[in-house]
Amino acid sequence: MLPFVAFLSVLLVVSGSGVCPCDRPELCQPIRGEREFEVFVFDVGGKTWKSYNWSMVTTVAAFGSYDAELMCFAHSKGARVVLKGDVHIPYIVDKANRTRWITEQVSLAKKQFMDGINIDVEQAVEDGSPEYYALTALVNETTEAFHGEIPGSQVSFDVAWSPKCIDKRCYDYVTIAKSCDLVFVMSYDEQSQITGDCIAMANAPFNQTLKAYDDYLDLKIHSNKLLMGVPWYGYDYPCVNLTQEGICYIPKVPFRGAPCSDAAGKQKTYKWIMKQLNSPTSSGRLWDDEQKAPYFYYKDETGQSHQVWYDDPQSLFPKADYVMSKGLRGIGMWNGNILDYSDDPVARQQTALMWNALLGSKLG
Ligand SMILES: *[C@@H]1O[C@H](CO)[C@@H](O)[C@H](O)[C@H]1NC(C)=O
Ligand SMILES: *[C@@H]1O[C@H](CO)[C@@H](O)[C@H](O)[C@H]1NC(C)=O
Ligand SMILES: *[C@@H]1O[C@H](CO)[C@@H](O)[C@H](O)[C@H]1NC(C)=O
Ligand SMILES: *[C@@H]1O[C@H](CO)[C@@H](O)[C@H](O)[C@H]1NC(C)=O
Ligand SMILES: *[C@@H]1O[C@H](CO)[C@@H](O)[C@H](O)[C@H]1NC(C)=O
Repeated sequence: MLPFVAFLSVLLVVSGSGVCPCDRPELCQPIRGEREFEVFVFDVGGKTWKSYNWSMVTTVAAFGSYDAELMCFAHSKGARVVLKGDVHIPYIVDKANRTRWITEQVSLAKKQFMDGINIDVEQAVEDGSPEYYALTALVNETTEAFHGEIPGSQVSFDVAWSPKCIDKRCYDYVTIAKSCDLVFVMSYDEQSQITGDCIAMANAPFNQTLKAYDDYLDLKIHSNKLLMGVPWYGYDYPCVNLTQEGICYIPKVPFRGAPCSDAAGKQKTYKWIMKQLNSPTSSGRLWDDEQKAPYFYYKDETGQSHQVWYDDPQSLFPKADYVMSKGLRGIGMWNGNILDYSDDPVARQQTALMWNALLGSKLG
């Protein structure tokens, strides 16, 4: 009896954590291998992860509550599961606080048998401020700690669609990219600061999206550090007036210094969009050749006109092709859960096409 108890406690101390929840203990080992092309999935909870195309997925950022079943399953497919890392930046200006935060994240990751962390702080930071340097130090020290404590672990950092102080996020992008394994470029919400006419536009217009990668690359951030994040959601805008040319003027909702923003619209899932597209008042799918994005109109029950902008395989293919041609680290989406994973045959096909679009037109 006693030796057995002693043996058990040694095991617990060694793993620094609880008992492995997987049916095969080796599934609690961190993933070490590097795959050539990353497919990085944000998972926000629920069980739809069971329907992901696991032949592609390399990393799942677990933004929902911890799901041991997801961790075991991802590991069985050779995919990493990483923590969500968010912290109030002014708090980590203090070195001791920063170290405490990092220690907590590493110990949580170990306890849950996870393979790294995705740092997602989307706060405004002034160039050259104490927060600016603290954030850069946070990324460096988090990477050092994770790599030291969890061999093979991955530390990633989420950045805005462009490095040009978008939403007043003026970070040291160059050093941050050097200090972690990859940066996830959130190529969406690109209308968060509308300075021209207050009108509905695409979530991630093609030229603007690609130009911003050129800006990141011009900073000498290596292409294999950059991962393109695409939206699996769109925006539904109420039109305060709709011109004859079909331009949808939207309510003025200011954001971080800009008079108008996409906050005038509501974020809608691809699943919702596919249903709404076929509703009785819908215009049906239209294509904007300048922004290279699909959109449609519909009228709600009060008679109010709406314009909906989104991404679908036709707008995603050329983005994924750019990822391939520039040799970026991979692609990912916000978020994995929002396709229609039901058994409906039309939904099944739409969902498979969205996954396949991630690999560009070679599959499409
Ligand atoms: C550091 O953490 C302590 C305890 O949580 C807190 O009181 C203090 O304000 C923090 N320091 C800064 C600079 O935020
Ligand atoms: C962190 O910064 C130190 C000091 O500049 C540097 O030697 C080290 O390589 C950096 N680590 C990472 C992961 O960037
Ligand atoms: C729609 O609103 C815009 C901005 O307020 C205005 O310039 C334009 O004249 C309006 N168009 C119509 C048809 O009311
Ligand atoms: C997009 O970029 C291409 C290539 O630079 C250019 O030919 C085209 O005119 C641009 N389209 C728009 C709408 O800006
Ligand atoms: C999953 O992705 C692979 C490519 O990695 C593709 O060949 C396969 O058809 C996809 N599966 C489904 C069900 O679409």
